[in-house]
Amino acid sequence: MRIMVIGGGGREHALAWKLSLSPQVETVYCAPGNPNLDQFERVEISDYEALAEFAAARSVELAVVGPEAPLCDGLVDVFRKRNLSVFGPDRAAARLEGSKSFAKEFMLRHHIPTAAYARCTTRDKAIKYIRKQGAPIVVKADGLAAGKGVIVAATVEQAIAAVETCFSGRFGAAGDSIIIEQCLVGEEASIIALVDGRTVVPLASSQDHKRVGENDTGPNTGGMGAYSPASVVDQALWQKIDEQILRPFLVGCQRDRLDFRGVIYAGIMITSQGPKVLEFNVRFGDPETQAILPRLQSDLAEAMLATVQQRLHEIELKWDPRPAACVVMAAEGYPGNYRKGDRITGIAEAEQRGALVFHAGTTRDPDGNPVTAGGRVLGVVSLGSDLPSALDHTYQAVQAIEWPGAFYRRDIGRRGRERCQII
Ligand code: AMP
Ligand code: GLY
Repeated sequence: MRIMVIGGGGREHALAWKLSLSPQVETVYCAPGNPNLDQFERVEISDYEALAEFAAARSVELAVVGPEAPLCDGLVDVFRKRNLSVFGPDRAAARLEGSKSFAKEFMLRHHIPTAAYARCTTRDKAIKYIRKQGAPIVVKADGLAAGKGVIVAATVEQAIAAVETCFSGRFGAAGDSIIIEQCLVGEEASIIALVDGRTVVPLASSQDHKRVGENDTGPNTGGMGAYSPASVVDQALWQKIDEQILRPFLVGCQRDRLDFRGVIYAGIMITSQGPKVLEFNVRFGDPETQAILPRLQSDLAEAMLATVQQRLHEIELKWDPRPAACVVMAAEGYPGNYRKGDRITGIAEAEQRGALVFHAGTTRDPDGNPVTAGGRVLGVVSLGSDLPSALDHTYQAVQAIEWPGAFYRRDIGRRGRERCQII
């Protein structure tokens, strides 16, 4: 089978790596992939029509879309129009991520638990609502803002400042309307599931670390590290997630006639009243995918093809019981303006220490050496007999890797570690 993975981050490296392990897969094209990954064929075509033409000419049997932007832009629609087999929701269904108000209305309509909210289209209305509700309160730009459009405000003043930022045009059209939400309290988990319109097959649970600083301080990022499984999600909670979130999601897609054949990622808060959805993403999590896929023992290509062909009921996923931990190594300045072009050393040594090293924001210098090119640079992953040993292996590998200004959180998995000690 020939497969194409669209995107070029750490998540896409993990997807391409796992797909290439399938005995059915002969070639993995990455569009555009990463210059440091010679094992995949790189395709540097950004125009969707031209990319679909390339996929058709090379008889690509499965295209997998990694990031949200091409999904929200309708890449899937372009591929389907040519009868190409593509994994991901179409443009209409991708609004579940692309528009927070669309997602909130979907959740209300289909009785999926989520935070109470108001949508405001003017600054004055937003400020009035915030003053009425008080703090803490959450302000969200209504469209895609690369993970930076959410402000959890501890005070009314902070919330008002967030409203000003949203309406300042900084988030482009994403800031034309805003969502103001009740602040939920609890522990977060990432629930990622394959959905083919008829069946939902959850992947292993995971937990991300959104804030840039240790002890969950500082601004939100795309994610600084993850581990799987999320031990907070026990059997009883899985049942609630299935009954209250995943099944209603599937029924909701059917009732609203959304063509959802891909992956749904529910970011949930486990509150004292049960799990509530913070947001839907219509793609794999990054870096959650880097921690989840090394534990998957089943054939990912087969599962994805079954998703596209609405045969998910035939698929049962098998998991390595060993936990996995992913630590993201980032460039100085991230999530603000960050350094670029620094030479990275020690990747081979980290791999010798038993880790997988996924390339996110890297490129190659003219001599062929890896150099930094993004905010989140590498995702380092290891398995272990238990979570503490997975984390220890990962951090040992991380220590082998260096570049000027590299940083990472040293407390990834802290909650899971503490839970291990309690048990
Ligand atoms: P989102 O992009 O909507 O997932 O938001 C990013 C992060 O902001 C989440 O992972 C949470 O840490 C936080 N967040 C979002 N919505 C809420 C909420 N209603 N209450 C508390 N924290 C939230
Ligand atoms: N790790 C968070 C996300 O993928 O949105």
